[in-house]
Amino acid sequence: MSLLIKNAVIVNADKLAKQPRDILIEKGVIKKIASSIKEEKAKTIDTKGKLVFPGLIDIHAHFREPGEEHKETIESGVMAAAKGGFTTVMCMPNTVPVIDNRSIAELVVNESHRIGLINCIPIGAITKGQNSQELTDMFELKEAGCGALSDDGKCVSDSHLMRLAMEYAKMVDILLIQHCEDHALSSGSVMNEGVTSTLLGLKGDPGLSESVIVARDIELAHYLDSRIHFAHMSLKRSVELIRAAKARGIKVTAEATPHHFTLTEDELKSFNTNAKVHPPLRTKEDVEAIKAALRDGTIDCIVTDHAPHAREDKEKDLDHAPFGMTGLETAVGLAVTELIEPRVLSWSQMAQTMSAAPAKIMGLKNKGAIQEGLDGDVTIIDPDEEWIVCEKDFVSKSNNSPFVGRKLKGRVTETIRAGKIVFQQ
Ligand code: DOR
Ligand code: ZN
Repeated sequence: MSLLIKNAVIVNADKLAKQPRDILIEKGVIKKIASSIKEEKAKTIDTKGKLVFPGLIDIHAHFREPGEEHKETIESGVMAAAKGGFTTVMCMPNTVPVIDNRSIAELVVNESHRIGLINCIPIGAITKGQNSQELTDMFELKEAGCGALSDDGKCVSDSHLMRLAMEYAKMVDILLIQHCEDHALSSGSVMNEGVTSTLLGLKGDPGLSESVIVARDIELAHYLDSRIHFAHMSLKRSVELIRAAKARGIKVTAEATPHHFTLTEDELKSFNTNAKVHPPLRTKEDVEAIKAALRDGTIDCIVTDHAPHAREDKEKDLDHAPFGMTGLETAVGLAVTELIEPRVLSWSQMAQTMSAAPAKIMGLKNKGAIQEGLDGDVTIIDPDEEWIVCEKDFVSKSNNSPFVGRKLKGRVTETIRAGKIVFQQ
């Protein structure tokens, strides 16, 4: 069955089309883009008044399978992703057990294929059990289908081990993603360190815990001529370090989440555990620096860091509640409301940061643009629709979002993967 998308205002990273086009997807691939296509046998959808993006790609999400399926399964996770407009999602290895060997990686790959809704790629661990003691078999993990390696949730603290990891990853040709947190500096913290944490009587994480690892890994990447990708950047100082590293030609890329370009530590003033996240929400100055970095390309892409948690865990007090918030279903609304509306980013830059750049970072050659010959992955967005984030509307098994009750502008109306409509509003 082929799919014909009529009157598509195509938003690619390099340009926002002036004239609407028709897009024909056949056998999962974009076959033809032209001013008018007639194809009676094709299923047809009209996108007048909407924007047509290349399928969005989230290279950082947490599904809880295996081990904590009550929070999220791969199936509920990819359904939430499809609703959020994502056609490709990469899931982090901090499951129980950790994705640190072939059999667990294959379990995720096989389950994703069985569901088949969107493209779901596991990220393997850098160290066994994410314990920063012994490296995983990177070659085996890559062969099993892992698209990158990370100990996300934890940092590879040992500098020598990180050096070895970079050397092996370069040989195997797989990307390393660092969770930048010096655990010795952040230990016991529940929020950003500063006046607010002092007033609230809560243990703070000094931004330093992030920037020292960013600085260290930039030095390692430079010394070894290796690549490194930094997860969920939260800090003005990190942005400065990455900007300087890129200017020196060091192979570093970075990502930021909607919550880090939207919220500040002030969210914790109400002791809201849904605002407890790693890295913590920082200051207004940091939020502005993250937005400026997305605008000038210092931060390459937007990721959700979708981290579903059970209600009973988030109902604990701030000291005991887990870190993380669900993010797949609010990312587009937040990007439009917080970045497009205030003119921080253009629509093309949104296509860049949410599709083209993540595709490039992960080497997904047939994705990231709406172009003849590439995969038929498309996300259709109504740029004007306003909606309110409601707890009951989450498709994810968890609804630990600090954005519940917030009015957002911009909504995904259809998600198309390989020419098949996998979500429709
Ligand atoms: O807030 C977070 N939650 N940050 C992480 O790095 C891990 C994640 C999780 O797995 O819950
Ligand atoms: Zn994460």
